[in-house]
Amino acid sequence: MKIVVPKETKINENRVALSPDVVKTLVAKGFSVSVEENAGVNSFFSDEAYKVAGATIETDKKNLFASADVVLKVNPPALNEVVLMKKGAVLISFMWAATNPELVKVCAGAGISAFSIDAIPRISRAQKMDALSSQANLGGYKAVLLAANTLGKILPMMTTAAGTIKPTKVVIFGAGVAGLQAIATAKRLGAVVEVSDIRPETKEQVQSLGGKFIEVKGDASIKIEGGYVKGVSDEFLKMQQELVSKHVKEADIVITTALIPGKKAPLLVTEEMVKSMKFGSVILDMAVEQGGNVVGSELNKTVVKHGVTIIGEANLPSLLPLNASELYAKNISTFLLHLADDKGFKWEMEEEITKGSLIIHNGNILKS
Ligand code: NAI
Repeated sequence: MKIVVPKETKINENRVALSPDVVKTLVAKGFSVSVEENAGVNSFFSDEAYKVAGATIETDKKNLFASADVVLKVNPPALNEVVLMKKGAVLISFMWAATNPELVKVCAGAGISAFSIDAIPRISRAQKMDALSSQANLGGYKAVLLAANTLGKILPMMTTAAGTIKPTKVVIFGAGVAGLQAIATAKRLGAVVEVSDIRPETKEQVQSLGGKFIEVKGDASIKIEGGYVKGVSDEFLKMQQELVSKHVKEADIVITTALIPGKKAPLLVTEEMVKSMKFGSVILDMAVEQGGNVVGSELNKTVVKHGVTIIGEANLPSLLPLNASELYAKNISTFLLHLADDKGFKWEMEEEITKGSLIIHNGNILKS
């Protein structure tokens, strides 16, 4: 059973699907692993480290894809990569199938099977495979560091002979995986942290991390299913904006992480709110790729509007490539071992994790 790991081709992507440590484990289990030349270099894994771990290094992309029984990637493959795969081979990567119909079509046309990492059900049994969480957690941490680094102030209170510096105020929207890590990180750096979320259970989680919960009374339009917000009305969002605007006005840093799976991100920070903020304050919009929580945020750009710096970096985990690749490698290899052993794949179509994540089976589209 041959696993191949291509170099990621997405712009500004530093991650790689397998680390040398995980390659070593897979080789010990009888898999053969081939890694594209320099695939790990931006994650600080050298070709030499992969070789020591038991992988071969492939310089020719075409040979690499054509020889694969299974291709492991972080990002969805480019279409011209999919067509290099042999019929019956298996692809495992983030696919975002619902918003990527062209990719699904090309995979089906190539006669491959494809599993999407983002579609693995978030059940306890699959926690070790949950790359959405492993990456969002690192993203939440890096969001605070980027914002702190942009702000012309320190985060903790500091008493000096020249006077006392007040602690920075950080407002965080969304207390999911990324938001909770952002709260913990901002607290560790000494900031005062206030948080808004609309899932009731988040209040206790925020408080246990030392954050102050901004109470927003919910209404009947809030739909929550399986721990996720599935939708809210525009009227509710308007009311929420009014209630949080006072907190945003006083904030030095605002970090937004609010998402609604499969839909456009909710708009939480209006232009009026940005205008109301202090000159020199910083916003980081982690939802920028899903349409953004903030009016004025721009994908992969840092812009200054009304004296406020708005950071729209979409791929925060890639800025911590060493940890992000290590954790992703554990997630994807655990998933692979759930589906296969060194002799080949042996998945059961009705098993929950397999069923949830299998998008294309031998050229047949099961989900789109
Ligand atoms: P997400 O990335 O979809 O959303 C981020 C946050 O935005 C959520 O906390 C959501 O409530 C919040 N949000 C949505 N609309 C908002 C609004 N108008 N204002 C403020 N906040 C808003 O969520 P994430 O972080 O991927 O996961 C959240 C849920 O998934 C939690 O219930 C978590 O416990 C659960 N989960 C379960 C896992 C498991 O059982 N294996 C693993 C990871 C997460």
